[in-house]
Amino acid sequence: MIVILIGYMGSGKSSIGKRMARKTKMKVIDLDDFIIAKENMSVPEIFEKKGEVYFRKIEREYLKQLLKTPENIIISVGGGTPCYGDNMEVLLKSTPNVFYLKASVDTLVMRLKKKKEERPLIKNIADNDLPDFIKKHLFERNFYYMQSHQIIDVDDLSRKKVAKKIIKKLS
Ligand code: S3P
Repeated sequence: MIVILIGYMGSGKSSIGKRMARKTKMKVIDLDDFIIAKENMSVPEIFEKKGEVYFRKIEREYLKQLLKTPENIIISVGGGTPCYGDNMEVLLKSTPNVFYLKASVDTLVMRLKKKKEERPLIKNIADNDLPDFIKKHLFERNFYYMQSHQIIDVDDLSRKKVAKKIIKKLS
């Protein structure tokens, strides 16, 4: 069984994936962490030294590698992963368990304000401009996110509850 968690930066993909793994005893891999380990560089470093185009290229290659894992696995991907090339199509074909962790702009702004540094796409955006940036970006990305098999509203739920809810829906 493959479970995929997608959603905007700050939607909780990585931490919910880890929580689900503890509960289900499934293996969990965060695509960003996998990239960092393979490339031996942080995500901001890859963006800075090699550029976003390079990041998107390897993101896609490592995603395909992970999807070949023979074990039961939960994969939390990056916020942009489903939105490049045919990645979303590839994800949807690999499993009936693609979950979109849907958070509102307000929730995302609140969470991301404190965590901009590690995210090259928002690092240089002033706090005041963050709501408009996220609103527009999310609008563009929703086209991909909304194709998920299941959409989970995360705004009013603790991470624990979100993890529980997804586990119940696994098919
Ligand atoms: C990105 C999201 C990041 C990381 C990279 C690009 C994006 O992952 O892959 O900074 O395009 O939204 P998280 O969603 O885990 O922050």
